[in-house]
Amino acid sequence: MSENKVYIETYGCQMNIADSELVEGILNTEGFKSSKNPDEADVILLNTCSIRDNAEQRIYGRLGNLKKIKEKKPETVIGILGCMAERLRKDLIEKKSVVDLVVGPDEYRRLPEFIDTAFNGEKGIGVKLSRTETYDDIVPYREDGLSAWISVMRGCDKFCTFCVVPFTRGRERSRSLDSIISEIKTLSDRGFKEVSLLGQNVNSYSDDGNDFADLLSASAAVDKSMRIRFTTSHPQDLSDKLLYTIAENENLCNYIHLPVQSGSNRILELMNRTYTIEHYLNLIEKAKKIIPGVSFSTDIITGFPTETFEDHLMTIDVMSQVRYDGAYMFKYSPREGTKAYKMNDDVPEETKVKRLNEIIELQQKVSYEINQELIGTETTILVEGFSKKSDQFLSGRTDTNKVVIIPVSEEIAAGDYVKVKINRATSATLFGDVVEKKSAELEKEKLTA
Ligand code: 5AD
Ligand code: SF4
Repeated sequence: MSENKVYIETYGCQMNIADSELVEGILNTEGFKSSKNPDEADVILLNTCSIRDNAEQRIYGRLGNLKKIKEKKPETVIGILGCMAERLRKDLIEKKSVVDLVVGPDEYRRLPEFIDTAFNGEKGIGVKLSRTETYDDIVPYREDGLSAWISVMRGCDKFCTFCVVPFTRGRERSRSLDSIISEIKTLSDRGFKEVSLLGQNVNSYSDDGNDFADLLSASAAVDKSMRIRFTTSHPQDLSDKLLYTIAENENLCNYIHLPVQSGSNRILELMNRTYTIEHYLNLIEKAKKIIPGVSFSTDIITGFPTETFEDHLMTIDVMSQVRYDGAYMFKYSPREGTKAYKMNDDVPEETKVKRLNEIIELQQKVSYEINQELIGTETTILVEGFSKKSDQFLSGRTDTNKVVIIPVSEEIAAGDYVKVKINRATSATLFGDVVEKKSAELEKEKLTA
C-alpha cells in the first residue's frame, strides 16, 4: 500500500470535477492520501481540458510553474489526466520533460499502476478509450458539502464538427440507474442538498430500458428535500417526457442548459448540430408551456468557418427571442482531428472578437432586464453559505440557478431553504430579504409578483 500524498488540480467542465473525485476515490483505496498542497505532494495530477486552444495553453503555463517544484524535488511525479492526455498522448511526454504520466479518461483504474511505473523512473502512458468503462462501482472521494456532481454517462456520439470531445472522451455509455440512485441515497444521508447529474449529452442516457426522464424521476424520489439538476442537454433529443417529468417533480430544478451554438441554419448544418433553429425555438416554446417559470442557459460559438455578418445577426435574433437567463459564449477555436479543422478558419480574429463582444453585451442586457423584472417577487433559495464579498451576507441559489444575496440571520444556516423577496438586482446577482424559513419539503417554485 502506498502512503504517498497526491494533489489534483482540475480544469475544464464539471465532468472533470466528477472525474477528479473518481480518481481520488481510486487512489485513496490504494492508500494514497489527498493533499491540498502541491509543494508537499509526491504525485501532482492535472486533470485537463482540450475544448479550446486557450484551455490547453493554461495547462502549459501551469506545467512551467510545476517545473520549479520538480527542480527542488525531482522525485515528484507529475501527471496529465483528462482530455489533453487523450488528445496529445505521448507527444506530451516527449515535448514536456516535466511530465511523467499521461492517462486518458477511460484508464483511471490503472492509475496506481502507472504511478508505480513513474516512481520507478519510467514514463507511464494509458490512453485507450473504452466502449464500456463507466466506473460504476467506484466510490468517488467527496468532502462533506451541500452540492455534489454525479456523472451518469460518459462520452459523446454527436460529432459536432467543431468539437474534440468525441475523440477525447470516446463513445457514449451510461451508468446503471441502480448505482446512481444508491449514490444519491448516500449523498442524502450525508446531508447533501443538491445533486447535478452530468453527461456530455444526458438526454442520450439509457440503461436497461430506462431513459433520462426515468433516471430523473427516480433521482427526484430519493429525497424530496434534495434538489436535482442536470447538464448538458442536446436540442435534438430533449423529449416531451423529460419536460413533463421536470414539471411534475417539485425538486427537479426548472433550469435547462440547452446549447444553441448558432442562430443560422446554414452554420448549424456545417456544425452537424442535427436540428434547425425552428426546431430549437419550438422546443423552447414547448418547454416554457409545460414548465411554468423555466429558465434557460446556452452555449454560443462566434466566428465558425464561413460565418457571415448575416449569420451573426441570426444568432443575435435567437438570443433576443429566447431571452436566456445566462449564456456561455466562445470564439471558435480550431481543434485538430475534428471535421471543422479541415475547413478554412476564415473569420478574422478581430471579427470573432467583435462578434463575441456584441453577444456578451446583449446577454448582459437581457440578464439585467430579466433580473429587474424579478424585483418584488418571492422565491425559495437554498442557502449555500456566506457571500463571497462579506460575512454580513449569505448567498443562496434559486431553483432557476440564480444567485441571491440575503442579510445574515441567526436562524438561517447553509443547507436551509428560505423564502425571500427580491429587492434589488444586477445582471449577475439578485438581492433579497427573508420572508420565511421553509420546511425541508420543497414547494414548487412560483415566482409570484
Ligand atoms: N471552439 C469554441 N468553442 C467550442 N466549444 C466546443 N468546441 C469548441 C471549439 N472548437 C463550446 C461549445 C460547447 C461548449 C462546451 O464549448 O459551445 O457547447
Ligand atoms: Fe461536443 Fe457536440 Fe458532443 Fe457537445 S454534443 S460534447 S459540443 S460533440
